[in-house]
Amino acid sequence: MCGIVGYVGEQSAVDVVVEGLRRLEYRGYDSAGVAVVTAEALSVRRKAGKLANLEKLLAEQPISNGTVGVGHTRWATHGPPTDKNAHPHLDVTDRIAVVHNGIIENFASLRRELEVDGVPLTSDTDTEVVAHLLGQVFDGNLADAMRQVCRRLEGAFTLVAVHADEPEVVVGARRNSPLVVGLGEGENFLGSDVSAFIAHTRHAVELGQDQVVQIRRDGVEITTFDGAPASGREFEVDWDASAAEKGGYDFFMMKEIYEQPKAVADTLLGRVDDNGMLHLDEMRLSDEDIRDIDKVVVVACGSAFHAGLIAKYAIEHWTRLPVEVEVASEFRYRDPILTRQTLVIAISQSGETMDTLMAIRHARDQGSRVLAICNVNGSTIPRESDAVVYTYAGPEVAVASTKAFLTQIVAVHLVALYLAQIRGTKWADEIALHVSELADIPAAVDQVLETVEPMRTLARSMVTAKAVLFLGRHVGYPVALEGALKLKELAYMHAEGFPAGELKHGPIALIEDGLPVVVIVPPRSGRPVLHDKIVSNIQEIRARGARTIVIAEENDDSVAPYADTLVRVPVVPTLLQPLVATVPLQVLACELAHAKGFDVDQPRNLAKSVTVE
Ligand code: G6P
Repeated sequence: MCGIVGYVGEQSAVDVVVEGLRRLEYRGYDSAGVAVVTAEALSVRRKAGKLANLEKLLAEQPISNGTVGVGHTRWATHGPPTDKNAHPHLDVTDRIAVVHNGIIENFASLRRELEVDGVPLTSDTDTEVVAHLLGQVFDGNLADAMRQVCRRLEGAFTLVAVHADEPEVVVGARRNSPLVVGLGEGENFLGSDVSAFIAHTRHAVELGQDQVVQIRRDGVEITTFDGAPASGREFEVDWDASAAEKGGYDFFMMKEIYEQPKAVADTLLGRVDDNGMLHLDEMRLSDEDIRDIDKVVVVACGSAFHAGLIAKYAIEHWTRLPVEVEVASEFRYRDPILTRQTLVIAISQSGETMDTLMAIRHARDQGSRVLAICNVNGSTIPRESDAVVYTYAGPEVAVASTKAFLTQIVAVHLVALYLAQIRGTKWADEIALHVSELADIPAAVDQVLETVEPMRTLARSMVTAKAVLFLGRHVGYPVALEGALKLKELAYMHAEGFPAGELKHGPIALIEDGLPVVVIVPPRSGRPVLHDKIVSNIQEIRARGARTIVIAEENDDSVAPYADTLVRVPVVPTLLQPLVATVPLQVLACELAHAKGFDVDQPRNLAKSVTVE
């Protein structure tokens, strides 16, 4: 949510910053702006709308050739997405430019204070307040000014600023929102995440909470908000710029859908020894801690929450530990019962989702252990957790999650089996068997992708549908929720997922002639009773006029007579079925959005990394 870039070096700052913004645009696309510093002054350009609008403006009104600059791509919180609210924001002297991600919660009182002082405010944003406060306290050292101002701010913020009087310096600060440093040769970078500078360096530094960083061409200095020297954790990014290119696909989302077999394989890589035993090196919880656990709580948002629902089936099945799953934004406000024996699992692609971050802080305050399942190295949630299991999906650029979701499911299975291994609830040979079943999944997903073409035709035939329902049972229920979420996010259609058993308690009233209903049929071999019940459900909705789109395993002939469209998926164990059944639903949503003429990678109003509560 809001992407930030800072650069100091020898290259043209506007080129480096705009390129960084292009890679960060998934974080927000309500407006974009850039400020470049020269010895004389600041040059600023900002424009409402997508980055392309800013680039057009820059072509019409080129910016001076400085080598120090900042940039911003916005997801609006305070004030509509207009030119005047676009970042960077300036102080009254027009010599300080600030970009910001997050929400400054005490901005109203700070704004009143400035108004009393007669400072003219020109935007509706909370960010502009910071520019004026920096201007008031600046005494020749921008980092000092930033420290003073940050001590007065409440809420979540990443701030990056430049001052025309200190033209060799870019200063950043972070509390709760993300900021990483990129280390180059004779140049340094700041970014909301590493993609901001991945084209220039893979050497990064993760900043801690409440830190201020000053970058110059030849050095980086980190302090706390109080000015005490501090340091960050250095790490190497394990992917390069080409991983975040479209690579011949029309959309990032389609590319990421097709990367799923590799993402799943990479997430399994190196975690299983020759005897099929799991080793999760980043676990950082002792065997004793794991044996102590008496309850698991999973917290997450969006697609990651759906992966969490699947975690419940896997962990309870293999460990017999009770598992609660909760949307992170609801978790801490209901005063959940947490003890030292509770393991809280936070699932987050970005590692920055504010609701999830606040949930784990609450859990740790109560003494619980937190295990993060995360895709982004250097992000906040793993840093603040007791243990982390990384997913290896690589950079996910499309706003709607696909490959990260699949790898999250793999990771929850790994965690479930690992808990079972340490707690002794499964024999070694059983664990080895389940791990080998997971190892078969990349090939199964490949098979789905090879036979997914009919989903494109199906999507085109659904363009005029007003709503779509999704039904599933057992782990097919989270798949139904995920299928519906994808359609809402991308095709802007009313879509709902239901447990098929709930059909008769309400949703069936929605069925009318021609309403598309997607049904995920559980494997016949797993729980025949569930399978047979859902086949009855398909008949019930078909009798009422629904258009049935049935996802069933390839050897299941029982459903054919009741399916208007039958989508085949490979035979896999029941608990792993979401890994294959979700894929056609991703393709459906992507194709339907495209057929309706919508922006698949950057759907309206959404942002990939939601760093405000
Ligand atoms: C946003 C994204 C979703 C994602 C959710 C949670 O809503 O659009 O795709 O599932 O955030 O994000 P996280 O990074 O915590 O997995």
